[in-house]
Amino acid sequence: MARKFFVGGNFKMNGTIESIKGIVKNLNEAQLDPNVEVVIAPPALYLLLVRDQLRSGLEVAAQNVFDKPNGAFTGEISVSQLKDSGITWSILGHSERRTILGESDEVVASKTKYATEGGVGVIWCCGESLEEREAGKTIEVIEKQLAAVSAKIGDWSKVVIAYEPIWAIGTGKVASVEQAQEVHAAIRSWLKKNVSEKVADETRILYGGSVNGKNCKELAKEKDIDGFLVGGASLKPEFVDIINSNQ
Ligand code: G3P
Repeated sequence: MARKFFVGGNFKMNGTIESIKGIVKNLNEAQLDPNVEVVIAPPALYLLLVRDQLRSGLEVAAQNVFDKPNGAFTGEISVSQLKDSGITWSILGHSERRTILGESDEVVASKTKYATEGGVGVIWCCGESLEEREAGKTIEVIEKQLAAVSAKIGDWSKVVIAYEPIWAIGTGKVASVEQAQEVHAAIRSWLKKNVSEKVADETRILYGGSVNGKNCKELAKEKDIDGFLVGGASLKPEFVDIINSNQ
């Protein structure tokens, strides 16, 4: 089956009201490939501003969501609050949250379950450190992350997987086309073996890590690369070239 190309922009903890309005205006006015699903993830403070100003057809993601219903959880945002605000996606399991904020595979899996069951899509991130890659453990690490989430969720239709090798994030050191394709194919075959052939065929697997307007076209040609999760370049006009890289 043809998987719809998907490009996410993860602004991380960047931007101001003014700069984010500028990014939204640029996207609203750009010629975007209609066959691409575009989702941008500003910091929580700007979610409503972006949702209000972004043209329809483009979606907005939160960079995190909590795995409990509304209540006494200072600093957190619930799935139902995202839905109430028209925020249809979330990014979970990003390596910055795993390493800096200590989110375990299990916490990420629990949040993924809550979000998907509550009707919010999840861009679920996985990836290995440089040390793990050099030790030949890349696939093992990713399979462990996959197993943890797979044990918790039943419905994969709201999940998009983002493979983000930690050594490629924000470093300017993009994975080679072969390195990315190899891991994407391994993820797809893990899904086929451990979930189902249908889920393996239908789940989009994005690449993330120093994607820019120049390297995106080559990566987009690979058969198991179904889009990108973009950090730094999503804040720049070249994000439009990345969205259009599959044309
Ligand atoms: O989630 C996107 C990401 O971690 C990649 O960041 O800046 O290397 O594109 P960047």
